Amino acid sequence: MTAVVPNPVTETATVRHSLRTQALEARPVNLDGFVEEWPEVGMVAMDSPFDPQPSVRVENGLIVEMDGTARADFDSIDQFIADKAIDVETTEQSMAIPAAEIAGMLVDPGVTRDEVLAVTKGLTPAKLLAVAKNLNIVEIMMGMQKMRARRTPANQAHCTSARDNPLQVACEAAEATLRGFAEVETTLGVVRYAPLVAMAQAIGSQAGAEGPQTQCALEEATELDLGMRGITGYAETISVYGTEPVFVDGDDTPWSKAFLAAAYASRGIKMRFTSGTGSEVQMGNAQGKSMLYLEIRCILVTKGAGVQGLQNGSISCIGVPGAVPGGIRAVAAENLIASAVDLECASGNDQSFSHSPMRRTARLMPQMMPGTDFVCSGYSAVPNYDNMFAGSNVDSDDFDDFNTIQRDLQIDGGLRHVKESEILAARTRAAEALQAVFRYLDLPPITDNEIETAVYANGSQDLIPRDVLEDLKGAQQVMDRNVTGLDLVKALEASGFSDIAERMLSSLRQRVSGDLLQTSAILTKGGPLSAINDANDYAGPGTGYRPSGARWEEMKRLRHVTSASNPEAEVE
Ligand code: 5AD
Ligand code: CA
Repeated sequence: MTAVVPNPVTETATVRHSLRTQALEARPVNLDGFVEEWPEVGMVAMDSPFDPQPSVRVENGLIVEMDGTARADFDSIDQFIADKAIDVETTEQSMAIPAAEIAGMLVDPGVTRDEVLAVTKGLTPAKLLAVAKNLNIVEIMMGMQKMRARRTPANQAHCTSARDNPLQVACEAAEATLRGFAEVETTLGVVRYAPLVAMAQAIGSQAGAEGPQTQCALEEATELDLGMRGITGYAETISVYGTEPVFVDGDDTPWSKAFLAAAYASRGIKMRFTSGTGSEVQMGNAQGKSMLYLEIRCILVTKGAGVQGLQNGSISCIGVPGAVPGGIRAVAAENLIASAVDLECASGNDQSFSHSPMRRTARLMPQMMPGTDFVCSGYSAVPNYDNMFAGSNVDSDDFDDFNTIQRDLQIDGGLRHVKESEILAARTRAAEALQAVFRYLDLPPITDNEIETAVYANGSQDLIPRDVLEDLKGAQQVMDRNVTGLDLVKALEASGFSDIAERMLSSLRQRVSGDLLQTSAILTKGGPLSAINDANDYAGPGTGYRPSGARWEEMKRLRHVTSASNPEAEVE
């Protein structure tokens, strides 16, 4: 055991520590960062003395005062929320209901989801904050169980490669969708690699299952281009912020983000915004407001833009709320408020924030226990070192733990254990399909040897390196030759992969029907599943979504389960 290094400021080398203290000091949790509350700079989870008090006043169908600010003094975010997000018809009535009563409605199974929505559509940011402050963590989970939009929970994965190796991404996407992820997304170390990696992910995802959608997170123009070509199917890293200076820092306004949202939707591309507690502090302009108050402004900007959903739950800023008292409760509250105003919620649990396995698990439970639209908005389907989104709270190393927790508590986090033989088959099929498409499109060859290695690999360190310069030339060709999703379908069909071609084509057809633009839509084998045809119907004990039937049988299976009939069962 290593002795504790004395802090030279507060103690001298002569202070004797107990063996107990030394044991505790050595625990991973003490590598995490913790800070005292500091409201002046916004380092406070949900209760700043500078947060406004709730109020609203309507004159001639216009909100003329909101949360203590007169219309003449609104900043651009206030104005957008007042004019686009809050229902002027009902706001005075909704605002008259005490916050504690609205909090009670969220928790009470006797009050329907629709009844709650009828009230929340008229609430201001400060009022929604007051509601959240009434709820403890269990009540937040109770609320989420009822308020999430889609009845069936789902999950989302990161599929990235530290070497941007397209072959690895194809294999990982196939394994991820086979394991149950409804959405898989990638991003790059070397941005110019994006077209090849996005193609690989699109092909791989359909080799594992039918329907999962993919994203390639890039700067806006390229991301939109790949989406419009049908190489990706959704976009979610369209950031919104809770203070005007931070918004302006990114050369954006709520209106410019709404315009971008419309550009995606106009081509049938599913999209959601991203926000989360801590971003304004991290960018140095929280204006003394609590993290949750500012996040509620982001949630209402999203609502006002007419976007169907939001990735929130601090996301890449999780270290900030994670460091202050009540921070993880505030993160669960921001997810609940997104759902409580009828937005799809992809609920975080993506970026890593703690060295402590216990803390990582505790941070996951408020979303995993009640179920959300996407429990993780980026479960790393690859080892941590390959995660180009800067690591996730849960990684490929955690698959067996995650599946065991689902089974222990009979809760559905969207995943399942899959036999190794099936995984190897899907990875092989994805790799061979990508090899064939590269050949068809005259891109740098993928050798059989590379495929062998990639199929059996854990991460990029196990792979045969590719000729990066040749790949980058190929990636540029894909852009210059205007390769589209339909070209991938043709290439697959011509190369003997008509099953994958068929799946990609039916996914592209969804662009025309627009079914994936509905709130909380995912594409499954049986077609689109959304808040329209799979609406959450939780109404108390015995109702709503509960893992049962074939799904529960599948969840019971793990890598090692002693069988009464076959005690010698092999590792699966
Ligand atoms: N607020 C706004 N945008 C965020 N992103 C991540 N966290 C936040 C947040 N708290 C977006 C950024 C980032 C991508 C992964 O998601 O655009 O690049
Ligand atoms: Ca994500």
